[in-house]
Parts: sequence; C-alpha cells; structure tokens
Amino acid sequence: MTERSAPTRSDSKSPTVKPATGKLGVLLPGLGAVASTFIAGCLLTRRGLGEPVGSITQLGTIRLGKRTEGRVPRISDFVPLAKLDDLTFGAWDIFPADALSVARESGVLEERHIAPIADELSRIVPMAGAFYQEDVKRLRATHVKTAASKAGMVEQIRDDIRRFKQEQGVERAVAVWCGSTERYVEPTEAHQSIQKFEKALAENDPSITSSALYAWACLQERVPFANGAPNLSVDFPAAFALARDLAVPIAGKDFKTGQTLMKTILAPGFKTRALGLRGWFSTNILGNRDGEVLDEPENFRTKEVSKLGVLEHVLEPKRYPKLYGEMYHKVRIEYYPPRGDAKEGWDNIDIFGWLGYPMQIKIDFLCRDSILAAPLVLDLALFMDLAQRSDMHGIQEWLSFFFKSPMTRPDLYPEHDLFIQSMKLKNTLRWLMGEELITHLGLDYYD
Ligand SMILES: NC(=O)c1ccc[n+]([C@@H]2O[C@H](COP(=O)([O-])OP(=O)(O)OC[C@H]3O[C@@H](n4cnc5c(N)ncnc54)[C@H](O)[C@@H]3O)[C@@H](O)[C@H]2O)c1
Repeated sequence: MTERSAPTRSDSKSPTVKPATGKLGVLLPGLGAVASTFIAGCLLTRRGLGEPVGSITQLGTIRLGKRTEGRVPRISDFVPLAKLDDLTFGAWDIFPADALSVARESGVLEERHIAPIADELSRIVPMAGAFYQEDVKRLRATHVKTAASKAGMVEQIRDDIRRFKQEQGVERAVAVWCGSTERYVEPTEAHQSIQKFEKALAENDPSITSSALYAWACLQERVPFANGAPNLSVDFPAAFALARDLAVPIAGKDFKTGQTLMKTILAPGFKTRALGLRGWFSTNILGNRDGEVLDEPENFRTKEVSKLGVLEHVLEPKRYPKLYGEMYHKVRIEYYPPRGDAKEGWDNIDIFGWLGYPMQIKIDFLCRDSILAAPLVLDLALFMDLAQRSDMHGIQEWLSFFFKSPMTRPDLYPEHDLFIQSMKLKNTLRWLMGEELITHLGLDYYD
C-alpha cells in the first residue's frame, strides 16, 4: 500500500455526508464505571442539568478559512452530527446490574447527578455478555450467554443488535467497547484473513478473546466499532478486511485519558524545544473494578504495552539519539481500593537541557478516571457515525486523538502527538465539508 497524500479542497472531492436523521443507537459492550458515567452525562446534559465538559463534539470549535474571516463555528454547528436528544443506549455486561445500580456502585457521580435521571438509568438493563473466563481472571461472571462455539456467540450478539435496533426504532447504531481490559494476546494465524478467522471462531480458537466476538458481530451488522480498551478486538488483518468489504469504520485502542494524555501533551513540547529526556517513571493508584482487573499480570500486560508505545513514537530515539537514545520509561498501576475511581497518578520526568544539565518535573494528577473517559465515548460515538454517513470505512486514523495506542494502517506508524492528532481530526472535518485545509502557512512576508 502507498500512502495517499492529504487532499486539499482543489484536488480531492469531498464526499457527500448523509444527514443524521432519526435515532442513533449507542451500543456499549461493558456497562461499568465509564459507560454508566457516559450515559448519565448525556441524560443530564439533555435536561440542562450538566455540562458536557471534555467533549469536543459538544464544546469544541473549528477555525475555517483565513484568520481575518473570523469564521470559528462550533464543531456541532459545522458537521452534521447526531444530537444528544437522538441518542438511545444499549449495553451488554457479564453482571445483570442496570445502569442506575452501576452508577451508584461505581461511586463516580454524586447522588445529585443520579437522582434526577434515576428512572431512565434503571431502564438500561444490560444484555447477557459473551465471556470466556480466561480473558479476565478476576471477574466471576453471572450474566452470560452460552453457545457451543465462539461462532455461535457471534450469532447471538448479532441477534441482540438486530433486536435492539428494532425495539428502539433506531436507524443507525455504533458500538464503543467499554468492557474490561483482557489478557494480552497477539494476532495469530487465525487473525490473518476473514476465512481463517471464521474457521477459528467455529473451532473455539483460544487466541480469540471475548471483545473480538462483539467486534466481529458489529462488523457483520455494519455497526462501526470503537475500542476503548487496549484489547486486540478489531486490530488485526481479518478485521481490517471485513471492515473494508462491508464498508464499516473501526477505531481504537484504549481511551487516552489521564497519564498518557499528559504524556502526549508534554513529550511533543520537549521534542519541539529539542530538550532531552533521560527517564519517565509513571505510577498510579486506582481502586475501581478496572484497577482490580489490571491487578492481574496478564491483563496489566495489555495495558502496559498500550501505555509504553507513546514515548517511543513521539520522541523517536533513533532519529534523535543524543536527546532520547538513553531514555528509560516505566509504567506501573497499583490497585488500591480506598481510592475508587479517583485515581492519583505520579510522574517523575528527568529531562536535560543546554550542555546536558539535568532537570526534573513532577506531576501529581489527582484525576477522575471515568470523568475523563466519558466525553471520549460520546465524541467517538458521534464521529464514528459521521464517518459511516460519509462512506469512510476501515481504520479511522483521524480519531487517533482519542486513543493511547492509535490503530494505524499496517504500513504506517501511529501518530501520538496530541496536537498533530487534533490538526488531523479538524482537517478531516474541513475536508468532509468541502472547506480549505489549514496548514498554518502565512505568506504575508512577501506582500
Ligand atoms: N476510565 C479511563 O480513564 C479509561 C481509560 C482508558 C481505557 N479504559 C478502559 O475502559 C474500560 C472500561 O473501564 P471502566 O472503568 O468502566 O471499567 P469497569 O470495570 O467499571 O467496567 C467494565 C465492565 O465490563 C464488563 N465486562 C467485562 N468483560 C465483558 C464482556 N466480555 N462482555 C460484556 N461486559 C464485560 C465488566 O463486568 C464491567 O462491568 C476498561 O477496559 C478500561 O481499561 C478506561
């Protein structure tokens, strides 16, 4: 494959974007802290009882044309996105608790944010999950499907999707994986083509984890699939082929929320200023169910791989050996129940400057995991739907902005720099709407 150069308005015709008519179903495999916080936030915002802070589809703007034109609409006024009022929610989980109980148990939101929408939340009851114990050792599932093979599981999930669409009267649906982080698996022979994958499903191949069953079912039903966890899910050649054949957008992996968000803000700054980096040690304490799952070494490994790639890609030690050749990067996550969802992340950053003199930066981020992740679920749902209505399919690299470990075409490297990701996202929106791309090049010097 060769990389197509970015189009400008003059050399590439923008697609016709179909309007966002009717309801949009948002399907969430995994109804835990993130999913319930996301749903609650949408319901509260609809009623004017909360602000969707952190969501660029709701609060972000986009500059169009020259700076002198003063055209800076809201993104939601510029591209035709589904409205919050048109969203309807569905979920699967391996526990039967409805969204109200989950929101209360997760301890993310205060009762003043739960009580006004309690009825609506209680009506969101998860469908039974497709689950194999070896994928998440720490959870003892009580609400699961049974099937003779993984292919049978896929069929049941497909039935669920069709039933959900019919019962809710939705025209379109998108899925955002908000389920647990699974054990670490690498693509095997089974993941290399559609035929091999389908055979492996029928044979219960152990290298196919639960999240890939949802992803495969969504693709078959032409439901765009975004992956909020670092699981393999749709990041392998068979899924790329199916997404292309059936014209379905896919994106992933792993929401970029706390420490990694900070890394992709700071590291591009060091590199831009040609400041060196000797080491970056990140650790955090986290006490929610996600933290419990990640306490298992096989599951932590999946997260670790997702978090570690960032600095390598942003800082390019091979290209800048004097600045980053000796860089030592370590990431830890400690399960510490008293903290619940209110994670605390510490970063110790050893940088160096002129003549190699060392300096240190310390960050203590007292964050809230699900509060940071919820707006990403919304933005991904709306942008994935926009992509499908614009006939964009396969890996949606322009959505890398939202991910710790962006999925990329196999012959390209991922872009981790938050600011390049943002530029790519906004230029994609400009291109979709037939606006000039913005290069930030000014030629006033020649007037
Ligand atoms: N909150 C963040 O900042 C953040 C950032 C990046 C990634 N993530 C990822 O997002 C995911 C959700 O996070 P969370 O805090 O809501 O976790 P959570 O543990 O509260 O929720 C995950 C839910 O998924 C369910 N689940 C597990 N396997 C399933 C299956 N096969 N089918 C259906 N349901 C299944 C679990 O029962 C649980 O209810 C995790 O994978 C987490 O690593 C979160």
